[in-house]
This record gives sequence, C-alpha cells and structure tokens, in this order.
Amino acid sequence: MATVFVSGALPGEGIEALRAAHEVVQDEGGVRSAAFEACAGRVEAVVALLTDRIDDALLDRAPSLAIVANVAVGVDNVDLRACAARGVVVTNTPDVLTDATADLAFGLLIAAARRIAEGDRLVRAGGFTGWTPTFMLGAKVHGATLGVVGFGRIGQAMARRARGFGMHVLYTQRTRLPEGIERALGATYVADIDELLAWSDFVSLHCPLTPETRHLFDAGRLARMRPGAILINTARGPIVDEAALAVALERGPLAAAGLDVYEDEPRVHPALLACPNVVLAPHLGSADRTTREAMANAAVANVMRVLAGEPPITPVA
Ligand code: DGY
Repeated sequence: MATVFVSGALPGEGIEALRAAHEVVQDEGGVRSAAFEACAGRVEAVVALLTDRIDDALLDRAPSLAIVANVAVGVDNVDLRACAARGVVVTNTPDVLTDATADLAFGLLIAAARRIAEGDRLVRAGGFTGWTPTFMLGAKVHGATLGVVGFGRIGQAMARRARGFGMHVLYTQRTRLPEGIERALGATYVADIDELLAWSDFVSLHCPLTPETRHLFDAGRLARMRPGAILINTARGPIVDEAALAVALERGPLAAAGLDVYEDEPRVHPALLACPNVVLAPHLGSADRTTREAMANAAVANVMRVLAGEPPITPVA
C-alpha cells in the first residue's frame, strides 16, 4: 500500500478505488498544505490540480515520488524537466475534456459577439426599455472567419463547431496537418500568425502555455488584429498580456473578448473587470460533471497503473 496525496475533492468514483488500494491523504490546500508536508517524505503519487506548482523544491521534499497525475490536459504547473531528471512520471488528462472545452470556447465566442453577458447585466439593471433597430448591435458569427491558434484536439473541436455555424476556419501552429485532415475539418493552414490575424474576425487560442507562447498576444500583436475582431482564450491566461488586452478592448482594434483563463488566477486584472465588452468565465472549460469525473478517473487510473509497476495510460512526453 502506497501513500497517495490528492489535492482536494475529486468528483466521480475513481477516488474510492484509490482509497481501497492505497493510503489516500487529501487536502484542499493542495501541495502547499500541512497535510502534504506531513506525508511528503513517504508520498509515492500526487494527484495534482493545475493550481499545484510541482517544482524542484517540492520534488526535493518528496524523494519517493513516482508519479504526478495532473487533473488537466495542460501541464504548465509542472516542471517537466525536473520530474524527468528524477524519473518521476507525469500524466495529464487529454481527450476526455476536448468537447467540453470547445463547447465553452464556442459559447464565449457567441456570448462576446452577440453581447449576451452585457445584455444580461443591462436587463437586470432595468435598462431594457424596448426593442429598437439599433439597440445593442453585435458582430455576425455566421459567415465570419475564425482563426485558431494551436490546432490540437481542442482547436480542431473548435473548428468543427465553427463549421457548423457556417464560419471559415484558418489555423496556425508550427506543423501543418496532413491535407486529408484539413479537408475533413474545412480548415486552411496559415504559417504566419500575423497573417492569420489579418484575416480573422474571431481568434481562439488553443495552444499550450510554454516560454514561447507566454504573452504571445502582447500589445503589438493585439494591435495587428482586425478592427472589430474578437479574441477568445480558454487555453492559459499568460498567453495574453491582460493589461494590453484591456487597452485593445477600450481603444481598439478589438470589439470584444471572451476569457476563461487569466494571468494570475483567481485574480482578474482590474482593467479587464472594468471593460463591458469582455465576457469573463471563471476557468470553466472542462467544468461539466461528466467531463470532470472522467478527468479525475483518468488521473486515478494513471496512478494505479504506475503504482502497480505498469506504464501510465496518458504520459506527458
Ligand atoms: C486543463 O485541463 O488544462 C483545463 O484548463 C482544465 O479545465
């Protein structure tokens, strides 16, 4: 029986299977909690959340650690190099959250384009005084061009949704996909991100957070977006410079934005909070019950496998 640290409450039944096989220490405070410190010396597996920083300092305190099972597809909270150097396996939860995240991204796109959240606030404040032909006009979604930055599973799922809404889809990433996949998705490759921005009415971010993508959307790049463009970010907050985004929303060229992720969660930049034309969601991309249960179960399955001496199901390369 190994000691497994679980960073907080998990939905689904996987946690019970884990408890039946191993000693489970669970604390909502995550790896910063006293509970983790108390078991760090013997812990062999950590079921980590994206709010847990897994770095050298933590690994030093957990010499028996064999696996970090992140309950997320993104692993920017984990120092992969430090884990590899110590032979600690890192796993994530791809696939199971693809559709949920694309659903949320497309929801934000429509909400931002058609001013749904702004309208909701207005109605609640008693500001709906009657229909007029010029009242709260937004941007047309059908027939518009969507530029997808990062065309992995979630980016492609976003493209499928966009095609269903009659949108033209462009994508950019380092590697072009085989033509057959492009054709099936109705997506056109654009090698240069700035060229993609020049053509896109909507831009949706689906790339991982890496040193290369941190502030990929800085003031300069935001300024190169089309006048009236709408930016959607369900990937990771630090890909966008929030202060610069607030300026682009206030002075142009952006008409609106839809955000699910922030540079310094759970803090949201005060300048963004002051922008009426940004829809703000509290990191809900994968937050439907079925998806979150599947994510927790996937993390638990990886832990069970590694503790049994078997290869993990979804290792992070
Ligand atoms: C992920 O899996 O990386 C998401 O941000 C969680 O919703």
